[in-house]
Amino acid sequence: MKNRKFLWGSATAAYQCEGAWKEGGKGLSNWDVFCHSDKNNVNPVTGDVACDHYHRYEEDIKRMAEGGQNAYRFSIAWTRIIPDGTGERDREGIDFYNRLINACLKYGIEPLVTLYHYDLPKTLFEMGGWENRDTTEAYVRYAKVCFEEFGDRVNYWATINEPNYETLCCYGYGNYPPNVKSLERRWKAMYHMMLASAKAVALYRGMGYQGMIGLVSDCYSIDFMEDAEEYRKAAGFADLFFNISVNDVCVRGAYPEEYRDKLMEEGYDLSYMRKEDEEIFKAGCVDYLGVNAYCRYLAKPCTEKGISLTANNTGDGKKKKLFIEGWFALDEDKGLEKTPWGMEIYPKSIYDLLLDLKKRYPNMPVIITENGVGNYDSVSEDGEVHDQYRIEYLQGYVDWIEKAMDAGCDVRGYFVWSAMDVYSWINGYKKRYGLVYVDFDDQGLRRIPKDSYYWYKNTIREKGEKFDGKVQ
Ligand code: NOJ
Repeated sequence: MKNRKFLWGSATAAYQCEGAWKEGGKGLSNWDVFCHSDKNNVNPVTGDVACDHYHRYEEDIKRMAEGGQNAYRFSIAWTRIIPDGTGERDREGIDFYNRLINACLKYGIEPLVTLYHYDLPKTLFEMGGWENRDTTEAYVRYAKVCFEEFGDRVNYWATINEPNYETLCCYGYGNYPPNVKSLERRWKAMYHMMLASAKAVALYRGMGYQGMIGLVSDCYSIDFMEDAEEYRKAAGFADLFFNISVNDVCVRGAYPEEYRDKLMEEGYDLSYMRKEDEEIFKAGCVDYLGVNAYCRYLAKPCTEKGISLTANNTGDGKKKKLFIEGWFALDEDKGLEKTPWGMEIYPKSIYDLLLDLKKRYPNMPVIITENGVGNYDSVSEDGEVHDQYRIEYLQGYVDWIEKAMDAGCDVRGYFVWSAMDVYSWINGYKKRYGLVYVDFDDQGLRRIPKDSYYWYKNTIREKGEKFDGKVQ
């Protein structure tokens, strides 16, 4: 399938925007359970209602089209399709996504559908979630239902969102369910996610569809402050940890030697990696790599003992602390501007990243499936939302993407995170990323397009033709 049009869109995920957590036959997910438990103690809010996109999807999609966007990335809640994870398909849930997809088509919006974006059926979660190999089978069965039901209209699929970041939060920072700190368990969960993704890719092709199927990977350009041997080595480990451990597997269809060697050297149990899986990975190479790009990571040698993984979920200006003995530590460039959550503002990182990806995976098309910046937005006295800093950030990224495309990178699309303000997982509702403001205090969940929404509309108008011409 060849689309000559560059995809310009914005993105959401089911649990973050749909709400209607007990409506339409939906089963419960790990996030429903977590949000209602006492473990949800950093920003104790839930996605029960969120933006009520479940009921308001049509006006949200219409607004995207009015903003010049031609694509929408959203995820399907597994619990709406197969409420208990493994049983019968649910017609009401399927009909909801039929309505949503049809609304996209009605407004000239290409849907890019993520099959799994952090929300796992409770039943599977209780049986070990992604640490349990059986979850891969349940996932493939669920994916098959989605292909059968929606494959006639959906041309872009993403198997899994951010295997790296999700498992780092679940098992590293410990701030996502199951809230544990064990890298050993993380490696295992991540392996099963990659296996599930590869199986779904092979299945999709086997079913004869012509669309593109990819995986969405949180990717980072890795840099260092001192040009010294041990810094370069630390950067190599950071690259392995954050990027290669996912990207090599879905793009090249194999775990790199260096990954197995490193984990073995550290004494991790790898007995779940089966010989016969190698064929599955080979058959499950993606058609495109979905890249979620937010920032760069600076690596330095780790001089401390043990492991420290601390996230900043409170927006108090502190940087997250991350070091892993034997691997690397995160460094900081004090001269650069950061968000209140400590994320560096450095748009050139997307250029560096795209060039790195091109070097390592020369023929792999890329879709930027997420790019955005979170902040405390507010409505001004004139009733509008003036998010100039977001415009600057996004403008910087789009300009550097353009430069990367000029340098030969095969980029097929760009999605701003997020289409509207959504539930930001453990960061709650105060950390806003949307092009459209959602008044969560208002009963009607009033939407107000921000300045960045209009900026995006103009940018698409200005750059559209040139970007279409660059689609390879
Ligand atoms: C990546 C995730 O895919 C998305 O769910 C999240 O809200 C954004 N990053 C912002 O943190």
